[in-house]
Amino acid sequence: MAASAAGAILAVAFAVVSCMKASANLAVPPGAVCIDPPTYNVLGANYTEWRNLSTVGFNPNNTAPPFIQVFDPSFLEITGPSATIRLIASNPGFAFAHEAPIYVPDLNAVFFTSNDGGALGYSGWYNNSVVSMINMTEVDLALSSTTGDVDIHVQTLNLPDTVQMVNGGTGPYKGDLLLITSGRALLPSSIVRVNPNPPYNATVLLDNFLGRQFNSLNDIKILPGTDIMFFTDPTYGWLNGFRPEPMLPSQVYRFDPSTGQVRVVADQFVHPNGIAFTQDGKTAFIADTGASGGFLGTNQTLPATIYQFDVDPRTQSFMNRRVFAYADSGVPDGVQLDTMGNVYAGCGEGTHVWNAEGMLIGKFYLNSTTAQMIFTKSGLVILDEEAVYLANIQAQGLNLATP
Ligand SMILES: *[C@@H]1O[C@H](CO)[C@@H](O)[C@H](O)[C@H]1NC(C)=O
Ligand SMILES: *[C@@H]1O[C@H](CO)[C@@H](O)[C@H](O)[C@H]1NC(C)=O
Ligand SMILES: *[C@@H]1O[C@H](CO)[C@@H](O)[C@H](O)[C@H]1NC(C)=O
Ligand SMILES: *[C@@H]1O[C@H](CO)[C@@H](O)[C@H](O)[C@H]1NC(C)=O
Ligand SMILES: *[C@@H]1O[C@H](CO)[C@@H](O)[C@H](O)[C@H]1NC(C)=O
Ligand SMILES: *[C@@H]1O[C@H](CO)[C@@H](O)[C@H](O)[C@H]1NC(C)=O
Ligand SMILES: *[C@@H]1O[C@H](CO)[C@@H](O)[C@H](O)[C@H]1NC(C)=O
Ligand SMILES: *[C@@H]1O[C@H](CO)[C@@H](O)[C@H](O)[C@H]1NC(C)=O
Repeated sequence: MAASAAGAILAVAFAVVSCMKASANLAVPPGAVCIDPPTYNVLGANYTEWRNLSTVGFNPNNTAPPFIQVFDPSFLEITGPSATIRLIASNPGFAFAHEAPIYVPDLNAVFFTSNDGGALGYSGWYNNSVVSMINMTEVDLALSSTTGDVDIHVQTLNLPDTVQMVNGGTGPYKGDLLLITSGRALLPSSIVRVNPNPPYNATVLLDNFLGRQFNSLNDIKILPGTDIMFFTDPTYGWLNGFRPEPMLPSQVYRFDPSTGQVRVVADQFVHPNGIAFTQDGKTAFIADTGASGGFLGTNQTLPATIYQFDVDPRTQSFMNRRVFAYADSGVPDGVQLDTMGNVYAGCGEGTHVWNAEGMLIGKFYLNSTTAQMIFTKSGLVILDEEAVYLANIQAQGLNLATP
């Protein structure tokens, strides 16, 4: 887009400061863009490029994606001095890389699912979603012989018919993938264990709440140090046309496989989506993608918000709800933490990172919706719908920390 003359003049207010100045003594990765927040605090009545759509990203310098955007020098401790963001796989026209990323260290492989809805998802009432695997050993090998992008073959898994519309996942759980499915038509939503090795056999652990079907289960995490599963249940299956009308509130559940008990631990959401815990299990995060209404479009007055809760040490109910962060672009979808307590969420223009106090410190800027990401031994793998990126950063993921 050609900048207007007024836009060009006013762009000075948006000046992107020298990364060296912003970062004090921390080395800045090549190509990173440092933002100096005070320089855009006042834009004035003559400013012509207001972001009146949440789908428009915050990219003052119109830097070509992908790049690292630094909002606070502390982000450089996450990236390290030589971080890059490189394409590792792509499939234009098919949203094969949406959510449910699970890194299995023993296989050095990442498993993930395609989009269960959306124009490029190729799934809905007519098609199941597709679960794939990317071999990080092959990625490392290919990247070592070039400084540019690579396009690794992604293997699709032939899963049993009981696994329909995978949307979230975590693990490994007792050596298996722990997937959560939205269900399709009358096939109920479920939590399912899947063998990460051929023949990829599966065991359903839960598919109802005392005889009532869930709406369309979305994402799942294990409370650290336990076997207890916590998961979210928005109405996207119905909003995307492949599940019956919802018959439960959009809430968050707790399932203890040792007793078989299922119960509700939090409610009052529009669309509860991504979920995460701090390493000590004392704090929970729930992303509410309320602003994104499936086929009903976007309503920017609804939440694009990550809420934070204390986990009641006695009951494990979520209490003391407060806003952790509001995403300035798109909606925060999948949530992951690193070992320093920083919070990563898949948002409208890439992965946003907040420190433990909720301050936005940086972004992995892709200029498109990235719903989820996962840490591997090679860095942060970012799912970008029609592509997969690897950010070889210094931070370590909580999913790789030994409990
Ligand atoms: C950002 O824009 C400023 C002018 O506003 C320019 O001096 C600088 O080189 C640009 N930085 C990048 C990384 O494009
Ligand atoms: C807005 O632009 C007009 C016309 O160029 C100028 O006279 C006015 O001072 C500007 N206002 C501000 C607040 O910069
Ligand atoms: C949104 O912003 C664009 C560019 O700044 C402007 O042209 C358009 O009129 C705005 N639309 C609304 C509804 O404010
Ligand atoms: C970001 O994406 C939008 C929408 O696809 C596009 O119009 C714009 O040119 C992109 N910006 C950059 C810097 O690539
Ligand atoms: C990944 O690739 C390596 C090197 O080709 C191979 O040895 C290994 O078996 C592959 N892993 C999986 C899970 O396919
Ligand atoms: C179902 O998936 C296949 C690819 O497996 C695709 O070719 C087809 O277009 C999809 N159906 C619809 C209605 O999108
Ligand atoms: C897969 O099958 C093997 C062999 O029967 C069994 O031991 C294992 O528990 C199964 N895994 C799952 C997740 O169903
Ligand atoms: C957006 O959501 C608010 C709050 O639920 C509602 O009052 C409003 O009517 C919605 N707007 C549109 C255009 O749907």
